[in-house]
Amino acid sequence: MSTYTLNVNGKAQAVDVEADTPLLWALRDTLGLVGTKYGCGLGQCGACTVHLDGVATRACVLPVSSIGDARITTIEGLDANARHPLQVAWQELDVPQCGYCQSGQIMSACALLKQHPKPTDAQIDEAMAGNLCRCATYMRIRKGIHRAAEIASTEGKQA
Ligand code: FES
Ligand code: FES
Repeated sequence: MSTYTLNVNGKAQAVDVEADTPLLWALRDTLGLVGTKYGCGLGQCGACTVHLDGVATRACVLPVSSIGDARITTIEGLDANARHPLQVAWQELDVPQCGYCQSGQIMSACALLKQHPKPTDAQIDEAMAGNLCRCATYMRIRKGIHRAAEIASTEGKQA
């Protein structure tokens, strides 16, 4: 075991873990940030998506020892009041069904909106292709992303 200091949601957080421990388990088991979910553990479903320096990243295949001082953002750090435009849009449109995949969906959508504040359907489909939803909420996710883009532009905020 070694101690690593991770920059999570704007705070330095020390974790005592093995070097090859995936970030997902440091977040969930050590820091109690359970909004990030375990799906496949193989980088193939997107349930564990967080941001590393603003880039959507699969936490289940990212060893803690490789992170250094990169900024980690989880669903809990998206907005202090859970009123990020994506969260508002998701509630307005009732996007989730069981909800399990949705924090990963929102984190991927957020990374997309940073790059493309008004994404086309094709850009959405491309950016979200690695986020699977067993409840098949894909059409609502797409609508939710368009709605979040609208909310962000009305509020003059970056989504
Ligand atoms: S749990 Fe990480 S991609 Fe599936
Ligand atoms: S809402 Fe159930 S897996 Fe996506």
